[in-house]
Amino acid sequence: MSFENSSVVIRAIGSYVPEKRLTNEELSKIVDTNDEWITTRTGIKERRIAGETIQVSDMATEAAKLALERSGVAPEDIDLVIVATLSPETLSPSSACLIQDKLGLRKVPAFDLNAACSGFIYGLDIGKAMLSTGKYRNALVVGVEKLSAFTNMEDRGTCILFGDGAGACVISYVDEPDQGIIDCQLGSDGINARHIVIPAGGSKLPANEQTLKDGSQFLQMNGREVFKVAVRAMGQACEDILKKNDLTSDDITVVIPHQANIRIIEAIASKLELPMDHFFVNIQKYGNTSAASIPIAIDEANIERNFKKGDLILLVAFGAGLTWGASLIKWY
Ligand code: ACO
Repeated sequence: MSFENSSVVIRAIGSYVPEKRLTNEELSKIVDTNDEWITTRTGIKERRIAGETIQVSDMATEAAKLALERSGVAPEDIDLVIVATLSPETLSPSSACLIQDKLGLRKVPAFDLNAACSGFIYGLDIGKAMLSTGKYRNALVVGVEKLSAFTNMEDRGTCILFGDGAGACVISYVDEPDQGIIDCQLGSDGINARHIVIPAGGSKLPANEQTLKDGSQFLQMNGREVFKVAVRAMGQACEDILKKNDLTSDDITVVIPHQANIRIIEAIASKLELPMDHFFVNIQKYGNTSAASIPIAIDEANIERNFKKGDLILLVAFGAGLTWGASLIKWY
């Protein structure tokens, strides 16, 4: 079978964030920090918190419903569900299975993947590969996080950064060449895994009295080290994918980077020699929502900038693992 005259495209996207806001001002009453430090060092003004009643599958289902509605694809025509998350609702079952049920989809394959903040780009590449076999026509690719559940509110180095939310897209196989997800480049570097860890709660160190006491069920990060690797890896991923596709940064309509830190985004802009208005930024509203950050940003960027068919969008992310990825999307 030849797939040279076909593509896998993003048909539509939707996002959801919980209503509850946690502002820098409010955080400064909990830990020793202040709005000025957080704003200048990260660009974040507030983040959204799901709270006890809103779960990962609730947020993802809301985002996916919007994407389905906008795509014109009926729920019964979805053939596959891929959910990128590092904060699954439960270790088992997967959040993907919970979402499949909440959306009332057919009994199609559904699975979670964990590539942290790079997860949505991993999901696009896996989705594209699976749809390109011809076995599936339409898939849901979701990025969702409830990072507030893994955040130590006594650690000012991390609690200022993270927020909750979800983004979802419908991707489809179409009989047209050179459209949609043109390319994805993924990478990882486990030797530096120690820089972002959640030590307890897995099979090596199941939760016990001691882990609860020392807070090792929460995410721990060596921020300074991660910052350096993030700038290097994201900049390189952008350069590599542009070169491989015979493009320069001038060909790109908009760069949608993972929203981790405004200073990381500024450093990438300078590396690519692009002005900041070429980058979509919404970190001030949501902080770092890990796997949800890119799909939420694509949705908001599309609403704000009204993407046209053929616009070239460069996605780039970096996260725990360490992992990274870039993706070149021709808007469909
Ligand atoms: N408020 C006030 N002061 C603070 C705070 C805070 N919230 N946090 C740290 N400080 C202090 C430090 O104690 C330090 O003080 P000192 O100089 O007296 O020791 C000073 O500010 C500088 O600390 P740094 O850690 O060097 O601050 P930096 O400028 O590196 O900013 C930050 C920290 C925001 C975490 C940054 O390193 C960062 O964004 N790193 C990248 C994070 C990231 O991208 N993660 C992506 C993956 S996340 C995932 O996959 C889930």
